[in-house]
Amino acid sequence: MTATRPMILPLPGNEALAASLAGTAGAELGRVTVRHFPDGETYVKIESSVEGREVVLACTLHRPDDKVLPLAFVAATARELGAAGVGLVAPYLAYMRQDRRFRAGEGITSTYFARLLSTAVAWIVTVDPHLHRRTNLREIYSIPTTVGHAAPLLSEWIAERVQRPVLVGPDAESAQWVNAVAGAAGAPSVVLEKVRHGDRDVEVKLPDMDRWREHTPVLIDDIISTAGTMIETVRRLRRSGFAAPVCIGVHPVFAPGAYEELLESGAREVVTCNTIPHVSNGIDVVPLLARGLTDQLARLAPQ
Ligand code: R5P
Repeated sequence: MTATRPMILPLPGNEALAASLAGTAGAELGRVTVRHFPDGETYVKIESSVEGREVVLACTLHRPDDKVLPLAFVAATARELGAAGVGLVAPYLAYMRQDRRFRAGEGITSTYFARLLSTAVAWIVTVDPHLHRRTNLREIYSIPTTVGHAAPLLSEWIAERVQRPVLVGPDAESAQWVNAVAGAAGAPSVVLEKVRHGDRDVEVKLPDMDRWREHTPVLIDDIISTAGTMIETVRRLRRSGFAAPVCIGVHPVFAPGAYEELLESGAREVVTCNTIPHVSNGIDVVPLLARGLTDQLARLAPQ
C-alpha cells in the first residue's frame, strides 16, 4: 500500500455503498463513468486520478451477468492508469449455488465465475458467501479473500426487536449457522427439512415445534431469491397457529415479485442486510466490509 489513502470507485448502482465504505474506512471516494454505446458495448472512464493508489472497486454482484464485464474493464483501466493494485468489495458474491454437477452436462458455474473474478482483481472482500458443499472460498478463488459474517448483527437485531423468538433455519446444512445466531440472541432454534424440486418448487417439513407455540418464529436464511423457502414455511407456521413470523435474509436477491409475495404470505416483517440495495434493508454490513477492507490493505502494506 502507498502512503496515500486508498480510492474507492463505485460501479453503477453502488454509489451509496461506496460513500458509506469510504467514510467508515477512511478512504477517498472516486468516480467512474460506465455507459453503453448504441451497439450495446460498454464504455468506461475513470474520472479520478488513480496513479499510485490502491483502488477498491465497490460492486455487489446480484444479477451478475451485466456487471462483470464493466467491472473487469474498470479494473483493467485502473491498472493501466498506474493503480498500485485493484481489489473488489462485493457484499454479495454471485454464482455460489451451482457448486456441483447436479445433472449430467451441467456447468459448475461457481468454479468458472471464481476463475474469472480471480483474473480481474487482486483480492475480494465479501459477506457470507453461500458455502454449502464447500468450506472455504480458497477452494475456488485463487486470490486472497476476506469474509465478513453477518450472524452477530442478526442476533443483535433479533434480541433488540423480537419478544420470545424461536429461530427457524432453512435446512440441515444451515444448522450450525442458525444455532450460532440463536445462541447469541438467547433464543431456541429448529431447522427445516427442505427438498427443492425446481427453481420455484420447494417442499419444507417443519420439525415438532409444539413447545415453542407461544414464541414468535424468526425465519433466517442467507439468500432469499424466489422466497419459495420462506413463503412455504410462513404458510405452514400460520396454518399451525403460530404468530406471524419475522423473516430475515442476509442477501435480498429477490426475484421479481418475490418480496411482495412473501409479505402477502403472512409474514409480520421482512428484514435484510444491505448487501444488495432493497427496501427491506434494515441491518448494516458496512462496518464488516470496512474491517475486511482494512485487513486486505494491511496485508499489502510494506512491513
Ligand atoms: C439455499 O441453500 C439457500 O440457503 C437458500 O435457502 C435459498 O437460496 C433460498 O432460495 P429461495 O428464496 O429461492 O427459496
